[in-house]
Amino acid sequence: MCSIILLLVILMFILQTVPVYNSKEGQGYWKQEGADEISEALNQRVIEGTAKNVIVFIADGMGMTTMTSSRIYGKGENGFLAWEKFNNVGVLKVYSANKLVPDSCSTATALFSGVKANHKTSGVDATVDVDDCEASLKPEAHLDSIMSWAQESGKGTGFVTTTRVTHATPSALYAHTPNRNWECESKIPQSGSKCEDIAKQLIQNMPGKKIQVIMGGGRQCLQSSVPDSAADPVDTWSCYSKDGRDLIEDWKKDKENNKYSYQILNNNKDLQNLDLSKEYTLGIFANGHLKYDYERDRSDQGMPSLSNMTEKAVQLLQKNKNGYLLVVEGGLVDQAHHRGHARKALEEVISFSDAIQKTLELINFNDTLVIITSDHSHSLLLTGYPDRGQGVLSSTLSAMDKIPFTSLLYGTGGPNNYQFGVENETVVRPDPTKNDTTEWEYSQQAVVLNDEVTHSGADVLVFAKGPMAHLFNAVHEQTYVAYVVAYAAKIGPYRTNGESTQYYCNCYLILLLITSLIIILK
Ligand SMILES: *[C@@H]1O[C@H](CO)[C@@H](O)[C@H](O)[C@H]1NC(C)=O
Ligand SMILES: *[C@@H]1O[C@H](CO)[C@@H](O)[C@H](O)[C@H]1NC(C)=O
Ligand SMILES: *[C@@H]1O[C@H](CO)[C@@H](O)[C@H](O)[C@H]1NC(C)=O
Ligand SMILES: *[C@@H]1O[C@H](CO)[C@@H](O)[C@H](O)[C@H]1NC(C)=O
Ligand SMILES: [Zn+2]
Repeated sequence: MCSIILLLVILMFILQTVPVYNSKEGQGYWKQEGADEISEALNQRVIEGTAKNVIVFIADGMGMTTMTSSRIYGKGENGFLAWEKFNNVGVLKVYSANKLVPDSCSTATALFSGVKANHKTSGVDATVDVDDCEASLKPEAHLDSIMSWAQESGKGTGFVTTTRVTHATPSALYAHTPNRNWECESKIPQSGSKCEDIAKQLIQNMPGKKIQVIMGGGRQCLQSSVPDSAADPVDTWSCYSKDGRDLIEDWKKDKENNKYSYQILNNNKDLQNLDLSKEYTLGIFANGHLKYDYERDRSDQGMPSLSNMTEKAVQLLQKNKNGYLLVVEGGLVDQAHHRGHARKALEEVISFSDAIQKTLELINFNDTLVIITSDHSHSLLLTGYPDRGQGVLSSTLSAMDKIPFTSLLYGTGGPNNYQFGVENETVVRPDPTKNDTTEWEYSQQAVVLNDEVTHSGADVLVFAKGPMAHLFNAVHEQTYVAYVVAYAAKIGPYRTNGESTQYYCNCYLILLLITSLIIILK
């Protein structure tokens, strides 16, 4: 009797602790899974017609390895991120005008304006080299973005980011600058003094002035002398304004002078209590970038999630009868990778996925095109032969030196990632399992010492659903995204009504001129 009970207890123990995935899926599972996928594929509906609304989601620095690792980390290897069931997928080539491995603002310019730009420049064509203020002032070098195109067609526009609203990716929506670091006046050198900083362009110029919803961080670029605290530190490494400006006040005055209704949001509570009827909304929730999702203050005075900002932005924009364009950036995936903390990057992809999940509950794919992509990837590896169920924060043993290595590694990295040492005149690699490799702050090992982890030039994926989503179906240039948005929404280069009448008008004018010339000459 006693032994039977003992056996039962042992059996219960085994059943409880052995994870589900170790009982490997049988043939039946894969056959069923295959049949389900076939039927999903056969039931795909091509949605023709015009996209009244377009939402573009960009996870900064989310390459294929990051996407796979985040899926395993957050959903398990059988799981799916919010967009992974979208029925149209393309591959994007991300090289910039002058770099094989690009940065975020040249790629954002490609995505939003449809023209490749030089490294570190935003909203200008390849005639402008980094720091060349004179060249960037030439109107013919300026590129119009999907945001201008949408506004010209009478659509509402907005953007949401977890970075400063003046940071690289959003800047390409509204600014023209030869240097992405010129976010506020204090970073512009004497040689660039004729150029306007990015924050000023957002608040004072078109199309920035007409963006109905702006949410993110970056108060330190908009206002001089902002309060500094541990909960919301001023990022002294990047631009912070010193000229006494208050561009938030200027934004407010502009809306008042034009008799628009508006609201300014500073924290979670403001966001939760916002008034959906207001025409203009400016939500600035941090001095620098927003905090990583895992560490942000979730109280009323704290910073909102990407999901909550996105939900409110969609609701605010949905009242536009001509439709809207919304751009949402999960910007901290890239930040986490640069610092060499892979787990933080994976967690940011999960909150990006949550924001998309929330959005899908609010929209109708019959009139809304949703695009998910990334600007570039990172030098992250998922390697070794970890077992199923171990998770991506695991380690496996090197066959040569018998020292474990983590499944996630970086190609390049800062001093925290570059960990080789010398012992007895031999290069040694420390055993990562001496640390808890599942910790937020754990730094995965890198091959090459650099100031930080660098981007990768590998292609990225684009996923789409809604009107004209089927236009993504091959290996495309990154610039293609802007043209798909334009084609689907009939804006910018594919604008129909307004543009064509203007074209005919011009034709008639020229005809009239020629006829009168002939008459005069006779
Ligand atoms: C998001 O907003 C909802 C209310 O709309 C609130 O209940 C929730 O706490 C917020 N979530 C986060 C993660 O901030
Ligand atoms: C979308 O359009 C299709 C075809 O016209 C229709 O059958 C479907 O009900 C629509 N879906 C929604 C959510 O409106
Ligand atoms: C270095 O040499 C010392 C003394 O011979 C030895 O105890 C130690 O294990 C060696 N370390 C390595 C990494 O081989
Ligand atoms: C390992 O842990 C120590 C102590 O917390 C920490 O100082 C070190 O940076 C960690 N190493 C890595 C590679 O994360
Ligand atoms: Zn980056």
